[in-house]
Amino acid sequence: MHIKLGRNDKCWCGSGRKYKQCHQAFDDKIARIASQGRPVPAREMIKTADQIAGIRQSAKINIAVLDYVAEHIHAGMCTEEIDRMVYEQTTQMGGMPAPLNYEGYPKSVCTSVNDQVCHGIPSADVILKEGDIVNVDASTILNGYFSDSSRMFCIGEVSPEKKRLVEVAKECVYEGLKAVRPWGWLGDMGQAVHDHAFANGYTVVREIGGHGVGLEFHEDPWVSYNSKRGEEMLMVPGMIFTIEPMVNMGRVEIYVDEANDWTVYTEDGKPSAQWEIMVLVTDDGAEILSY
Ligand code: MF3
Ligand code: CO
Repeated sequence: MHIKLGRNDKCWCGSGRKYKQCHQAFDDKIARIASQGRPVPAREMIKTADQIAGIRQSAKINIAVLDYVAEHIHAGMCTEEIDRMVYEQTTQMGGMPAPLNYEGYPKSVCTSVNDQVCHGIPSADVILKEGDIVNVDASTILNGYFSDSSRMFCIGEVSPEKKRLVEVAKECVYEGLKAVRPWGWLGDMGQAVHDHAFANGYTVVREIGGHGVGLEFHEDPWVSYNSKRGEEMLMVPGMIFTIEPMVNMGRVEIYVDEANDWTVYTEDGKPSAQWEIMVLVTDDGAEILSY
């Protein structure tokens, strides 16, 4: 619940300016679109300048952690070692890995190899070998602010088929990014992602999507990459969400490992690839906060 601000009250965004000189027209515009029956972001999804500054600091750690992983990942290491690197680097920089103990998740990072779609749990038993493709998904909490991004890594020489999957999955993210602009629709982004995957003969996982992020690990909105242009939620400046499609080489179906209730696999056993960026909607487009 938000108490309606008077025109001369201080704006909710913390600018110190009067509401009428700050976000009033913005709020009115959103209310007008909502009155047409369209989904619009709630106030909590629109970050203030201070919040964005905090999230940016958190994201800096997340980027540095993935840079560190990029430098040290190699054939012959186990994914447990990646977990240790992520924990040590994150905490050294003053942050905490967000996955650790999140809804019972036992590790500091997700490491998803080949046909693992996401939420691969680091283990001493999983040894990276030449030809593997692996997603490393890192998330950081700093001063209560969350960041989230992931990258793919090719271990040594990988097959041309896998290499292309990894490349196209990345292109999908950046095609989606091009469609992010204020007063557009999340479905513009979702369709751009999906179209690029589909044009390359791939499928995009339906059940698992992206999410708002910043004040919590996973916030509304839930973000689909099987959505249609002009549909889903309105995008407005100050919203932060992830673009993180899981792109399958083969069929779209997935299943969850019953042994741990976390790790998601492709049903057909073919590889899956995912890159994740965290995006801020700005006044004139979008800005990548974490990659
Ligand atoms: N980082 C994942 C995401 O992109 C979430 C992982 S949840 C965890 O949303 F508990 F497995 F870490
Ligand atoms: Co995410």
